[in-house]
Amino acid sequence: MNFSDSEIVNSIMIERGLKPTDAPENADVIFVNTCSIRDNAERKVWDRLKYFRSVKKSVNNDMVVGLLGCMAERLKESVLEREKLVDMVVGPDAYRTIPNLLDEVEDGRKAVNVILSLEETYADIAPVRTTGNGVSAFVSIMRGCDNMCAFCVVPFTRGRERSRDLESILDEVQALSDQGYKEVTVLGQNVNSFNDNGRTFTELMDKVSLINPEMRIRFSTSHPKDFPDELLQLIAERPNICKYIHIPAQSGNNDVLKRMRRPYTREQYMELIHKMKKMIPGVALSTDIITGFCGETDAEHADTVELMKEVKYDLAYMFIYSERERTLAHRKMADDVSDDIKKSRLTEIVDAQHAGAKSNNELEHGKRHLVLVEGPSKRDENQYQGRTDTNKMVIFDQIDFKPGDYVEVEIIKSTSATLFGKAIKKSSITEFSSQMALA
Ligand code: 5AD
Ligand code: SF4
Repeated sequence: MNFSDSEIVNSIMIERGLKPTDAPENADVIFVNTCSIRDNAERKVWDRLKYFRSVKKSVNNDMVVGLLGCMAERLKESVLEREKLVDMVVGPDAYRTIPNLLDEVEDGRKAVNVILSLEETYADIAPVRTTGNGVSAFVSIMRGCDNMCAFCVVPFTRGRERSRDLESILDEVQALSDQGYKEVTVLGQNVNSFNDNGRTFTELMDKVSLINPEMRIRFSTSHPKDFPDELLQLIAERPNICKYIHIPAQSGNNDVLKRMRRPYTREQYMELIHKMKKMIPGVALSTDIITGFCGETDAEHADTVELMKEVKYDLAYMFIYSERERTLAHRKMADDVSDDIKKSRLTEIVDAQHAGAKSNNELEHGKRHLVLVEGPSKRDENQYQGRTDTNKMVIFDQIDFKPGDYVEVEIIKSTSATLFGKAIKKSSITEFSSQMALA
């Protein structure tokens, strides 16, 4: 989401006549787009700001440093006092005002805008993309979150949920297709709550995926409380909607889920998982897990480990609980699991995840996948890397492929995180899916 927001800020800055530079030493303005989700995310930002202050002191005292995003929203004016690290503070709904705020800073004032909006979606701003190598792009479809999970600061930093109008999303995806992009990831805090005057996420996915049958469509993040059957049906039927679903469980224990204010039980969650696996053969699943939430007992933790073993996620983002100010957990519950216990529980969860992913990946040996080529492998530049429809990274020999090609690859070996394969031939979504249907 922050990458996507930074691409909107890029567009606003370029419009104002500034140009991007790679080296902080050459910059007149530096923005740090920030995340508040856990304390360690914020600590990294403070370190980065101190580094920029040293650059500023040594090369250009007039350099403007701005704090953008969730930390700006959370800490507001108070950031300005802290060690004089920043000149500007801009919350996630105030990026349009950046040019005016820059004028204020140039006039010698400190500038702050952290007003949240009920409407802002930046729908009319064409992002200037810096990620994805011209092959894949993020498209933000909604902002904010109304779910109020007890641990989460997002509803306070990103404000109320609101959706972009459907036509503006279709126009953006059409433009990406015209520019040769091969993959779009549709983004929102909870994409399943997308609602443009009654038009649903399923309707949006239907329309987006019809724009170009050779363009892959991904989406993130879904909340387990509202995953409709029609959407599962659509994913199963439409070859270019990727068979990969990020569906955060957070915990495998009902009492913890209740304390977290997650409105589903383990049983309902598992029912959804079984339905996903049944309706979408070969679907890959991933989750987010928080360990050591307020009051979590050994037995409650054991239920989460058990859930990991039962689902066998292909991928998981696993976190130690980090108390955040203003949240319900901060106001009403005690952060009473010790750091040592949190750490050892995390290790157990990570181990269970790796074991599950490893055994899933072993089942892939001998199977063929359509891989969208990203570029040279990070470890060996004679090899190429790309992803399957199920979002698994595959490494294979470079023949004459280029980023953006679809290649049919046979999987030979694997680890818990990566597949290794033999390239068979260049292909396409249409060709590969009809070949699979015949097989
Ligand atoms: N501590 C740890 N992890 C958190 N997340 C959200 N808030 C917290 C917190 N206070 C995790 C959740 C969410 C992911 C984006 O970050 O798992 O799904
Ligand atoms: Fe945070 Fe819960 Fe909203 Fe996700 S659904 S952003 S975890 S409040």
